[in-house]
Parts: sequence; C-alpha cells; structure tokens
Amino acid sequence: MPRSRSQSDGLLDRSLVFVTGKGGVGKSSVTAALGLLASKAGKRTLICEVDAKGDVARLLDCEPSGFEATEIRENLWLMSMNTEEALREYLRIYLRLPVVAKLGPLAKTFDFVANAAPGVQEILVVGKLCYEVKEAKYDLILVDATSTGHIVSQLASPKGISELVRLGMVKDQVAWMEDILYDEAQTSVIVVATPAETPINEALELAGRIDVETEVHLGALIVNKVMPELFSRSEEEFFTSLQDPKASKVLDKVVAGDIGTLLKGSNAALDMRRCAAPYVERLMSSAGDTPVALLPLMFGVGTGMKLVRALSEALSAEWDELLWRD
Ligand SMILES: Nc1ncnc2c1ncn2[C@@H]1O[C@H](COP(=O)(O)OP(=O)(O)OP(=O)(O)O)[C@@H](O)[C@H]1O
Ligand SMILES: [Mg+2]
Repeated sequence: MPRSRSQSDGLLDRSLVFVTGKGGVGKSSVTAALGLLASKAGKRTLICEVDAKGDVARLLDCEPSGFEATEIRENLWLMSMNTEEALREYLRIYLRLPVVAKLGPLAKTFDFVANAAPGVQEILVVGKLCYEVKEAKYDLILVDATSTGHIVSQLASPKGISELVRLGMVKDQVAWMEDILYDEAQTSVIVVATPAETPINEALELAGRIDVETEVHLGALIVNKVMPELFSRSEEEFFTSLQDPKASKVLDKVVAGDIGTLLKGSNAALDMRRCAAPYVERLMSSAGDTPVALLPLMFGVGTGMKLVRALSEALSAEWDELLWRD
C-alpha cells in the first residue's frame, strides 16, 4: 500500500516533479542530476523528456529513448514524450479501441483537433504523466519540461478543459488528473534560472504565473551556473596585492612568463560573481517561502555523466533536507 504523503515530504518524495525555466539554463542537467540522486537512493524513477531532444540521454551517456520507457541504469528509466503515441495509448486504454500501427485517418482528425482546440496537445502530455503516477510503476516521475512559454498552459490544461466540458467522460477523465496535479503532496514544480538579469526576471515571472494561473505547487527555485566564491576576504586582499605592477614584475621573473594573463582570468571570474550577486539576491528576496538553491558553475568537468554527478553531489550537499524528508 502506498505510504500516505504529507506536505512536509521532500521534493523527491513526491510522485511528479516538473523542472522548467528559460532555454539553456540547465533544466535537462538538473533533471538528470535529480534522477541520478533519486535512483541511487532506491526510488524507481522515470525521467520524461518533454521536448524529446535527447539531451537527458546525452547527459546520462545513454541511448535516447522513445515513448516506451527504457531502463538506463538501476532504478532509472527514460522516455520521450510524443503526443500522437500518447493519444494512441489513451484510445487503447480508455476507449478500448484496437491498437493500430498508425493512426491513419484519425491522425488527420487529431492534427485538426489538436491545432484548433486549445489544450488538447497539453492535456495529452499531462494526461500521460498523470497516468504513469496512477499506475504507480515508478515512485517518482521527473519531467524535463518545456521552457517558460509553454509550461503554464500544460499545467493549467486539466483545469481549462474541465471548465470547458462540464459533464460526462471527459470531465471525469480530467478530474483524476487534477487530483494528482494540484495536490502539493504529490506534484511540484522546480524553476531553474541562471544568475543574470533576464533569466532571473523570467524565473520570477514564471513563478508568479504558476501561482496565479495554475494550482500546481511551486516546490523550489534553483539558480544554476553560479560562479563559485574564489577567494576568502584575506585571500582576495592578497590577490589584489599581486596585481601591483611591481609585484607582477617580480613574479614574471620567478615563473619566467606573463603572470598578468592569469591575474586577468581570475579578475574576470571575480567580476562575474560580483555582477551576478544582485540578481541572485533579488531572486532570494522575492522567493517568499519557496526554497532557493544555488548550484555552482562546474569548471573542467565538461558535460555528460561527469557534469551530472557533480551537480547531484552539489544538490545533495546544499539541499539534502529539502530533497528527502522520509
Ligand atoms: N552547473 C553547470 N556548470 C557547467 N555547465 C553546465 C551547468 N549546468 C548546465 N551546464 C551546461 O549548460 C548547457 C545547457 O544545459 P541544459 O541542456 O541542461 O539546459 P536546458 O535548460 O535543458 O536547455 P534547453 O532549453 O536547450 O533544453 C549544457 O551544455 C550543459 O552541459
Ligand atoms: Mg533541455
């Protein structure tokens, strides 16, 4: 019997967690890192790539997956969303229509309906995810969700459809989705940003829209790629003294090279951190009760599994209490 959940459960104790944010901020990397953490902790975890670009597969150094989930390592499955396949599955399960190789003429009708009626594409995505929650084959479903523009309409789609269709089967169908999606003990959204003006503004705007336009719980904000603190205060004073032309000249002789280039590099890193600080502070002061985590810009690890491992270590170091509470 599933354990009853409480609202104080950790993020990874929930059933369905969406990771969203502006393009390129690190949604896929954070999703992969959370997936690694959860699966290593023994949770049967499904990652769903909604944009089906295969980025999570690349990050986890495995083959891209189709609509059928594939197990890519112990306790970790991967699938790519595909709305036509989601519709076929729906027809097979709920309307008991025979499985057909291709939707054929129905596909044309589907295209027409999906493009004409608001919310159809979105409800297929959300419906498939909620169906997997209901089936309970996995303990946790992590969604590498669409970026800022689209996520609100996806999260709000069951509500929109239930307002549109007040009676009958469709109404019943969306009712159970709403029960899952709008229950904060089961479902949460994480918004990822990077420490610069536009991504932070967009993250705050998105957090506001999720709050106002949907009933989905905002679980956390993550600022990714934060330049780490390079020096302590006393080290910084020492570093500044090295930049004195007299000191540099002596050092050039000692190392038989141009120390100035190295100092310029370190200065640029310090500047990046200083420039980012006000945006990070702004996000933190506007976040209210929503927890905020900072993930460092990882140097020298490249991408793929090395980056995912480094991010998962940083996440559990910074956020252990928020991720797990049981
Ligand atoms: N903390 C980090 N340190 C260093 N590199 C990072 C970090 N996080 C992500 N990256 C790199 O940044 C790039 C973008 O990351 P990712 O693909 O996860 O972003 P995304 O938000 O999913 O992008 P898209 O919107 O295109 O799907 C990738 O090359 C990834 O390797
Ligand atoms: Mg991505």
